[in-house]
Amino acid sequence: MICLDYSSLQTDLRWWGFDSLTWRPSRFIKPAESDLTLEAGVGMAKEEEFLQPRRGAFVGWSEGARDCPGRKFSQVEFVATIVSLFRDWKVDPVTFEGETIEAARKRVLELIRTDSAMVLLQQMLHPERAPLVWSKR
Ligand code: HEM
Repeated sequence: MICLDYSSLQTDLRWWGFDSLTWRPSRFIKPAESDLTLEAGVGMAKEEEFLQPRRGAFVGWSEGARDCPGRKFSQVEFVATIVSLFRDWKVDPVTFEGETIEAARKRVLELIRTDSAMVLLQQMLHPERAPLVWSKR
């Protein structure tokens, strides 16, 4: 099984710039044409646009002929879910006895760094243990 290193690819300085590890959602927005251009009478004002990352630089939903057909759906669903949750709620790690909330946050961040792994899609781990036989009806 070969898995891409998504984190490295999607924070690669060559495609994402020196601040690739910074939370800056505006990097995905292409600003509207500048006022300067307008003053010079060149071109028309354009709305700001979603900046399509360079091909192959953002592959969370894969890319190419077999990429994810649920991409748009899940992106909209994701935003709706996050907004519904965080509009009225905030979340913190459960603190252990004697632990401060800052220490608990640090502990959880460390776990995210050291205790995460790539698992893509539901699958039988050992299909060879359940061999099937096809026979003509
Ligand atoms: C955050 C949500 C999602 C992510 C990150 C995601 C990601 C992906 C990725 C990476 C693949 C390619 C897998 C591979 O190459 O083996 C894939 C395939 C696929 N996804 Fe999604 N997906 C998401 C949500 C959805 C939703 C909501 C649907 C359906 C409504 C969906 C339907 C599919 C299907 C049918 C394929 C197989 C396409 C093919 O093999 O031609 N996905 N998805």
